[in-house]
Amino acid sequence: MSNIVLECKNVFKQYELSSGPLEVLKGVTFTLNKGEMLAIIGISGSGKTTLLNLLYGIDSLNTGEIKIDGHEISKMSSEEFRIFRQGHLGIIFQEFYLIPSMTAIENVMAPLIIAGKSEKLALTVAYRLLERVELIEMANKLPHQLSNGQKQRVAIARAIANTPKILICDEPTRALDTSLGDEIMDLIEELIEKEGISVIMTTHDPEMAARADRVLIIRNGQLVEEKIKDKESFDFKSAKEIYQRSVDAEKKSVDEEKKSVTSSKKPKKKSKSKKS
Ligand SMILES: Nc1ncnc2c1ncn2[C@@H]1O[C@H](COP(=O)(O)OP(=O)(O)OP(=O)(O)O)[C@@H](O)[C@H]1O
Ligand SMILES: [Mg+2]
Repeated sequence: MSNIVLECKNVFKQYELSSGPLEVLKGVTFTLNKGEMLAIIGISGSGKTTLLNLLYGIDSLNTGEIKIDGHEISKMSSEEFRIFRQGHLGIIFQEFYLIPSMTAIENVMAPLIIAGKSEKLALTVAYRLLERVELIEMANKLPHQLSNGQKQRVAIARAIANTPKILICDEPTRALDTSLGDEIMDLIEELIEKEGISVIMTTHDPEMAARADRVLIIRNGQLVEEKIKDKESFDFKSAKEIYQRSVDAEKKSVDEEKKSVTSSKKPKKKSKSKKS
C-alpha cells in the first residue's frame, strides 16, 4: 500500500491581472507521506498560500495534477469535492477565521453539523475535541474573549472535527508569540503521533520549519527540497542561511526581471514607483 497521502505533479497557477498574467506556481511537484510533517517556507508573495488554496480547493490550478489519497481532485465536481474534503482535509489559517458570533464549542460543532451529524453527536464530539486541545473551560466563550493561542486551538479542534487525513496549516503560528507558537506546534505534533494525521504547513519561521520532517523551499514558483535527516540535531543556523539564500535569489531574479523590462521599454525620464 502506498504511503503517499498527497501528490502534486507539475502544478501551474497563474492569476490574470489587468497588467497581464502573473505566474505564481511554475511546475510544483512534491509528495506528502502518511504521518509526515512537511513544511514549506518562502518569502512573502512566493506562492505559499496559493499552493495551499489549490490543495483545499479554495482556488483551482491551471495545469498539473493534485491527488489526495489517490483521488485526482480536479476531476471531481464541486459537490463531490466538498464531500470528499470533509473526510480528508482540515485547514487552519494564520488569522484563525473563527465565526465571531459563535462560541468556541459552536465553532467546533459547525463542520460536524455541515457533514450531517446530529446536534447531539456534534456536541459530544466537539466537547471531546475541546478537551483534547485543553480548552474546555472556554467552551462557551466567543472568539473575541479568547487569546490568539486559544483561538488557534479552537481552530485546530474545528479542523480535525471530521477526522481528516491531512491537516493544512497556513502559517499557523505567525500571529502568536514564540511560546504560544511552540505550544501549537506541540499540539500539531501530537496529532501526527496519536491520530496518524499528515501535515503540510507553510511558515516564514525557520525554527518552526525545523520541527518538520522535511522542508521545501518555494522559490521562483518552484519547490527546492532540503532534507532534514536528523530532526533532533537540526541546525537552525543553516535553516536560516538556506532561507536567506532563497530570499537573496528571489530578490536577484526580481531585480533582473525589472532590469530587462526597463531596458526593453527604453527608460523614460519620469520614474513610476510601483510597489506590488
Ligand atoms: N486571488 C489573487 N488574484 C491575483 N493575485 C493573487 C491572488 N492571490 C495571490 N495573488 C498573488 O500571487 C502571489 C503569491 O501570493 P501568496 O498569497 O500565495 O503568497 P505567500 O507566499 O502566501 O505570501 P505571504 O507569506 O505574504 O502570505 C502574490 O504576488 C499575490 O499578490
Ligand atoms: Mg500566505
